[in-house]
Amino acid sequence: MIQVDNLSKAFNNVTVLHDISVTFEKGKTNLIIGRSGSGKTVFMKCLVGLHEVNAGNILYDNRNFVKMDFRERKQIRREIGMLFQGSALFDSLTVEENVMFPLNMFSAMSPAEKRARVNTCLNRVNLADVNKLYPGELSGGMKKRVAIARAIVENPRYLFCDEPNSGLDPMTSLVIDDLISEITHEYDITTVINTHDMNSVMEIGEKVIFIHEGNKEWEGTREEILDTGNKNLDDFVFASNLAKKIKSLSR
Ligand SMILES: Nc1ncnc2c1ncn2[C@@H]1O[C@H](COP(=O)(O)OP(=O)(O)O)[C@@H](O)[C@H]1O
Ligand SMILES: [Mg+2]
Repeated sequence: MIQVDNLSKAFNNVTVLHDISVTFEKGKTNLIIGRSGSGKTVFMKCLVGLHEVNAGNILYDNRNFVKMDFRERKQIRREIGMLFQGSALFDSLTVEENVMFPLNMFSAMSPAEKRARVNTCLNRVNLADVNKLYPGELSGGMKKRVAIARAIVENPRYLFCDEPNSGLDPMTSLVIDDLISEITHEYDITTVINTHDMNSVMEIGEKVIFIHEGNKEWEGTREEILDTGNKNLDDFVFASNLAKKIKSLSR
């Protein structure tokens, strides 16, 4: 579980995140939704320490990340898997080398153990026989799966995904969403996903947090999201034709 208390973040006196408090639950897909520019990426970067916060606390299973020194944070970072916008694979490394990269950096495994772990993770994301290929030889969906394999290679307790579906077609997006959701449940990970995709909300939104102009305006489940009475959230939700259809069908 990750508990965020009263987090604020400003750049040059411009406040981008206002006093956000939220709990991300273990073994669940926690979605942060909001329009482009609402603060999702900045929030996620604060959570993992890529930005320093101006105020607030971030508790990783009761360990306060904000108060930690460099060494203590390093321990938490080892428990974090990250899937950032784009796949951020190394183009000059093979698939296998990409997935192995965190193990080479951080683990004391033998080469054989590393190879076995890489193969386990590639199998888990349903990729076989691509070990020696380069990212440039893969489709967008396959690249994403390699990035997921890399994110889970160190058995993370926490998984952060920033717009995992960006650049993917709807069918492939569904496959990636389902994969992230399955992995979350299977390994009991606290997963946080930034998205502006209502399809993802309906597919895997177990807990949903809505951010508007840097304020948390709503939280709930996907079942509750169509009737919140929040104007900004309605504008976001019903910008998608799919949600309109679902709502009209349920009436
Ligand atoms: N490094 C930065 N310096 C100054 N402003 C930033 C920086 N990064 C993001 N912002 C601003 O913070 C706001 C939120 O951005 P972002 O978190 O990227 O939105 P989202 O991910 O929801 O699309 C935007 O107004 C953006 O311009
Ligand atoms: Mg973003």
